[in-house]
Amino acid sequence: MQTQDQYNRSLRDLRISITDRCNFRCRYCMPEEIFDTNYAFLPKKQMMSVDEIIRLAQLFTALGVQKIRITGGEPLLRKDLPEIIERVSQIPEIEDVALTTNGSLLAKHAQLLKDSGLMRVAVSLDSLDDSTFMHMNGGRSHVQPVLNGIEAAAEAGLKVKVNMVVQKGMNVESVLPMVSYFRDRGHILRLIEFMDVGNTNGWNWNQVVSKKEMIERIHCEWPLEPMEPNYSGEVASRYRFLDGKGEIGIISSVSDAFCFTCTRARLSSEGTLYTCLFATKGYELLPLLRSGVSDEDITSHLVDIWYNRNDRYSIDRGKNIKEGTKVEMSRIGG
Ligand code: GTP
Ligand code: 5AD
Ligand code: SF4
Ligand code: SF4
Repeated sequence: MQTQDQYNRSLRDLRISITDRCNFRCRYCMPEEIFDTNYAFLPKKQMMSVDEIIRLAQLFTALGVQKIRITGGEPLLRKDLPEIIERVSQIPEIEDVALTTNGSLLAKHAQLLKDSGLMRVAVSLDSLDDSTFMHMNGGRSHVQPVLNGIEAAAEAGLKVKVNMVVQKGMNVESVLPMVSYFRDRGHILRLIEFMDVGNTNGWNWNQVVSKKEMIERIHCEWPLEPMEPNYSGEVASRYRFLDGKGEIGIISSVSDAFCFTCTRARLSSEGTLYTCLFATKGYELLPLLRSGVSDEDITSHLVDIWYNRNDRYSIDRGKNIKEGTKVEMSRIGG
């Protein structure tokens, strides 16, 4: 069944958050002043069980989903992650199973995850400088455990990408060392413009380093040229190094929006469907699942939701559109 939304976008990519908890407190995602000991994280019974995750994943394949990315919070905090990966990767229609992680616990689990069917990991790392990194992650981790996680993942045979959020006044000086380090090791680094996700990170335009500025900065040191996307709707714009040492990606949701090719849906760990990273409204699916509604009825509900989708937040950003309370990044995992 092919379903198109109001801008003729298909549904290809489902991102499933399996927990809203994280062992980091990145200032741009879960600032510790808000996500403190009083913060109400989801109780276990309100979160999707493995069976519920698999049932929804299967139902989404009927609408065209072929790629699944498991996210959090930090997905490695959930003990049944290997089982989730194993069962997701056994769904015949699913061609690509990836994981987004902060990497701090990856070294210990990379081989088991690979053996369970995981193909790729995206590891978040914002600096190689320990004090900058610690400052950004709320003092929760040094750099080395994350680098160990990245190497363990590569050794286990997982494809690795590294995601770096670039924020003015925080880690701009870390860009060139990060580029140098990861191009020497053959991992693709993606630089992400600081975004106004959620409601708590105090975002403003002055803190954004644009795609253009990032490219200029890197090009001076290691000349670059643009590359074709790997697939239509790829989030990152690709650039190759002219000296032949690999490529980097830039994710430019702020300066150069990519909404018109957005084929992504997101499920929070409580089974709520969001059709945009900046959504102010979600569709609760768990009550339906738990009330004994048939697969056919849930599928037709999903088709209706996707058909009515008209999200294009990044394109409309700054156009004085009335904003509601957005879903938190830690609930849908990027
Ligand atoms: P590949 O499957 O390897 O192409 O990766 P991907 O780019 O689909 O996935 P990834 O989750 O690694 O994306 C990296 C980051 O880009 C995310 O953590 C988000 O910060 C941002 N991002 C991904 N998708 C979207 C999107 O639809 N809208 C916006 N605004 N940002 C996105
Ligand atoms: N802006 C850009 N990227 C963000 N991420 C989290 N919050 C933001 C933000 N405000 C990224 C993380 C991670 C992924 C889950 O999303 O760095 O790579
Ligand atoms: Fe945790 Fe990732 Fe958010 Fe940082 S960006 S607080 S690692 S979920
Ligand atoms: Fe898709 Fe929303 Fe991101 Fe635009 S802002 S690319 S619609 S998730």
